[in-house]
Amino acid sequence: MIAWPDTRLLKLFDIEVPILLAPMAGAAGSAMAIAVGKAGGLASLPCAMLSHDQIREEVGLIRAAVRAPLNLNFFCHQTPEANPEADKAWKDLLQPYYQELGADFDAPTPVSNRAPFDEASCALVEELKPQVVSFHFGLPFADLVARVKATGAKVISSATTVDEAIWLERGGCDAIIAMGYEAGGHRGMFLSDQLHTQVGTLALVPQIADAVSVPVIAAGGIADSRGMAAAFMLGASAVQLGTAYLFSPEAKTTQLHQAALREGKDSETALTNLFTGRPARGLVNRIMREIGPVNASAPAFPTAGGALVPLRAKAEPQGDSGFMNLWAGQAVGIKHRLPAEEWTRQLAIQTLEKLAGIQH
Ligand SMILES: Cc1cc2nc3c(=O)[nH]c(=O)nc-3n(C[C@H](O)[C@H](O)[C@H](O)COP(=O)(O)O)c2cc1C
Repeated sequence: MIAWPDTRLLKLFDIEVPILLAPMAGAAGSAMAIAVGKAGGLASLPCAMLSHDQIREEVGLIRAAVRAPLNLNFFCHQTPEANPEADKAWKDLLQPYYQELGADFDAPTPVSNRAPFDEASCALVEELKPQVVSFHFGLPFADLVARVKATGAKVISSATTVDEAIWLERGGCDAIIAMGYEAGGHRGMFLSDQLHTQVGTLALVPQIADAVSVPVIAAGGIADSRGMAAAFMLGASAVQLGTAYLFSPEAKTTQLHQAALREGKDSETALTNLFTGRPARGLVNRIMREIGPVNASAPAFPTAGGALVPLRAKAEPQGDSGFMNLWAGQAVGIKHRLPAEEWTRQLAIQTLEKLAGIQH
């Protein structure tokens, strides 16, 4: 039997294949987690956009369907101070679009539902006792991390630089996700806001592996067994895949997002702060083209998205994806149509074959 060249993550999480389903808020839920858990990978549930009752319900569905370790994922940003002036300047910038689409400019701006990890979420983790808790945007306060670890959960988070990886290891992370520039969705960056110095996966993974003693999970631009085998060669103990899973039927993406993914090419994604206020990678659409993918007027995370909600609500029913976030990574051109369980199994087998070929 061919063995994985590095089994640290398999032992740490008690999983069978070193593949983590990327938590993808709004884009994947219990169905995808069940499928990946059945294939022996890590079943992840993104919690940032769910109420606590919804999280309980989703966890119940997963646990009823599969006996596999579970990862609950939370955002851990600081809620920004209210800034009505910035909010107004941003909405004023979007005013011509309100006019064009017939959206009500004077109605109160919708509020983002992306909530940070707090006391109440920590109590929920203590109640649900997942095997893994993953964070995005750093770590919550040390007392909350200590409480999560006291439940027995392994704690992981994303690093986009070596400095962030070292910070996360010191903060108590049991493994670190090395999130390269290619990755879809929000960049996990938290020590720097400099987009132009962000690092690609090929350069990031080995440098983080050299800098920390905990296992490293490679993320960003990995979409098949070529990428996964390469990640192991770079020093990763596992991979975390997001965009590739969006092609499975279990994805909860809208029809317009699915259509954009099917058409999407390598050179058609960009980092943008328009949809939430934090940089995230998605397929370029009308609003990104017309006001620039990164616009200094976008208010702090997660506020920016609110003013776009009425535009999206008008545009989407007309088949217009010009005002919605179309998260996708740079490997969006590598496509499949397989259910997530089958695709995970296939990815593991093909990667093992490739690694065996390299070893002999
Ligand atoms: C649609 C989408 C939503 C995402 N949402 C989250 C999230 O809620 N939490 C998180 O930690 N990472 C999130 N990410 C980032 C992924 O965890 C992962 O790092 C990334 O998808 C890896 O790069 P890839 O897309 O090239 O596979 C998201 C990514 C995508 C594509």
